[in-house]
Amino acid sequence: MNGELPCIVATPPGPRSRELAARLSAVESPAFDARRQSRAAASGEEQTPIVYASGAGSNVHDVDGNRYVDLTCGFGALALGHAPAGPTKAALAQAERLTLALGDVYASEAKTLLCERLASLYPEPGARVMLGLSGADALTAALKTSVLATGKPGVVAFEGGYHGLSHGPLAACGYSEAFRAPFAAQLGDHVRFVPYPGAGDDLDACKLHVTRALAAGDVGAVLVEPVLGRGGCVVPPAGFLAMLRAACDASGALLVCDEVWTGLGRSGAVARSLAEGVRADVLCFGKALGAGWPVSACIGSARAMAAWGAHGGSAIHTATHFGAPPACAAALAYLDVLDAQGLAARATAAGERWRATLRSATADLGVRDVRGVGLIVGVELDGGGARALATSRRLLAAGWIVLTGGARGDVLTLTPALDAPEDLLQAFAPALADALAPLVS
Ligand SMILES: Cc1ncc(COP(=O)(O)O)c(C=O)c1O
Repeated sequence: MNGELPCIVATPPGPRSRELAARLSAVESPAFDARRQSRAAASGEEQTPIVYASGAGSNVHDVDGNRYVDLTCGFGALALGHAPAGPTKAALAQAERLTLALGDVYASEAKTLLCERLASLYPEPGARVMLGLSGADALTAALKTSVLATGKPGVVAFEGGYHGLSHGPLAACGYSEAFRAPFAAQLGDHVRFVPYPGAGDDLDACKLHVTRALAAGDVGAVLVEPVLGRGGCVVPPAGFLAMLRAACDASGALLVCDEVWTGLGRSGAVARSLAEGVRADVLCFGKALGAGWPVSACIGSARAMAAWGAHGGSAIHTATHFGAPPACAAALAYLDVLDAQGLAARATAAGERWRATLRSATADLGVRDVRGVGLIVGVELDGGGARALATSRRLLAAGWIVLTGGARGDVLTLTPALDAPEDLLQAFAPALADALAPLVS
């Protein structure tokens, strides 16, 4: 059984969660407590967190003995849910044999096998792989690749796009100006943002924005999420990626597809861009890759990556824990399960059925849109971010864990395990209908 219905025995957050949350807020960055306070003020709902004790499949138990259904699964990283058997066993066995090799000097067998496997995902021979620990690491490698390959530092990125918060990707992060503003002086001015088109938007208008941004001639990369994830589960119109491919071909910029959220099954494909018939020069994967273990990858065509070898003999991009053997072993095990269980196809079918059920369960309840692809599901609410926060809190009280996202914070963002039982997903629909906070007009 990899998923059971919620069982709440102590109103969340229970006393042990409250105690641990208070102790943590006293010692961690004050940013997180400040965010909770501002969210509490905006939503009128307390935002004290629960504290996780254990997880199995689609369920999480908190330290007060409550069982939840986790519809976020580690921001989408736990593609097989919590403590998945194959990757967990592989990582632990590897850790007992060899915990750390010597990075780019002396590698492990696990790293070698993973790089081979990832290179084979690129649809052209000669692809090269750079491993990292986080999605932001993969994006950093991609951005460095683009300037090495083209000699051009400029980047075209999208409003609403999220690529991670270390400096390189942060500079290209159009999700929230508040993330960039305090660090603006450290980020440079090489990124031009253009609007990300939603389902009904005009592709010609989007093309015009992109072409204008490329016209300056200094752009080495067009950086795009095939579906906006954190930006609100926005699915662009058909032909969007193909249009970007053509614009890159005309300008000489690399097309970098950030598949950290969409990739490796979640959007119903190993790579959303490839499923749409578009070959990016560089693909970035993260999240699902390690099934919860920290590993990410930047995979580039032979042509795009050649510049790293032409650099003159220094290993100019590496880190101590890149390619750590346990995470590589977990990733290999995840890729096996992805293939063997046909998880991408399952995500497509289960996601379509789930969105249909959610739509009918919430009709007339102030839900503006239920959208997504595969098991990326966004439920956009009327009433703004405050209502979304209040609704997510009511869901927590009922034992369902969800996040809010989107530029205005008004989208409930659902990224369940790709193998979550469908009856569990379906059971969320009445729970959501019950939890939807009243719409104050
Ligand atoms: C599309 C996308 N790219 C990159 C990242 C950054 O990944 P990480 O948080 O592992 O650095 C995220 C994280 O949510 C993401 O959604």
